[in-house]
Amino acid sequence: MEKKELENLLSSFKESPAEELLRFFLPAYRGKIALASSFSGEDQVLTDLILKIDAEARIFTIDTGRLPEETYAVITETMERYGRGFEVYFPETTAVEAMVSSLGPNLFYKSLENRKRCCEVRKIKPLARVLQTLEVWITGLRKGQAVTRQEVQKVEWDETNKLLKLNPLADWTEEQVWRYIRTHQLPYNKLHDRGYPSIGCAPCTRAVKPGEDIRAGRWWWEAPEHKECGLHYRDR
Ligand code: ADX
Ligand code: SF4
Repeated sequence: MEKKELENLLSSFKESPAEELLRFFLPAYRGKIALASSFSGEDQVLTDLILKIDAEARIFTIDTGRLPEETYAVITETMERYGRGFEVYFPETTAVEAMVSSLGPNLFYKSLENRKRCCEVRKIKPLARVLQTLEVWITGLRKGQAVTRQEVQKVEWDETNKLLKLNPLADWTEEQVWRYIRTHQLPYNKLHDRGYPSIGCAPCTRAVKPGEDIRAGRWWWEAPEHKECGLHYRDR
């Protein structure tokens, strides 16, 4: 795609509501567009919006091997609700074996370097494998989620992965997400009822106290500016 054409595309959808954005992009990139789902509240809303437009749309998740049981439960429930499967990607066995053999299963608590290595092996590498098959990926990122996410746009050029990135819920509030889930009675991760607003791998996620930041429970031992695993690095 020409740079000018791309800039026009990005700016013309700046203010589009989520559904309108999906109605344009899903048929236009069929087979080459997919939702990256962690089965979070946002991802459940997107799954519902997407499957109402195209019941066979691609939806994938990365199973790091360290997800909480509650996440496996919501994956199962969601498959049952829509009567279909989702693409599940795993890390490469040999890379996990080498890492865990030398640094131990809980290497991430020891240093930022170890934590990044684990995220690289368990999430970033499998993600790169899926993204190679795509021209557009859809995520549940919202501006309100973190200091690192205030610049999130609905349509972006993802320079790291060299493809278009849609964040249809960029301007949604947490309240809007939950209203949609309740209205449509969508399955959701039960950890949300137990004080977990943001959920990743089990050993790297804890509940937050009332008033604490949404992502305070992710890699809670690290400073806020480090709290990205690399799935969503931004040029800032
Ligand atoms: S993370 O970078 O800190 O892990 P977060 O949990 O906030 O991300 O999720 C943001 C978005 O990243 C989700 O809405 C989803 O689109 C994508 N995402 C996160 N984790 C996964 C996963 N395991 N598999 C697929 N997509 C994911
Ligand atoms: Fe590893 Fe924790 Fe990153 Fe999951 S979130 S990949 S367990 S460091």
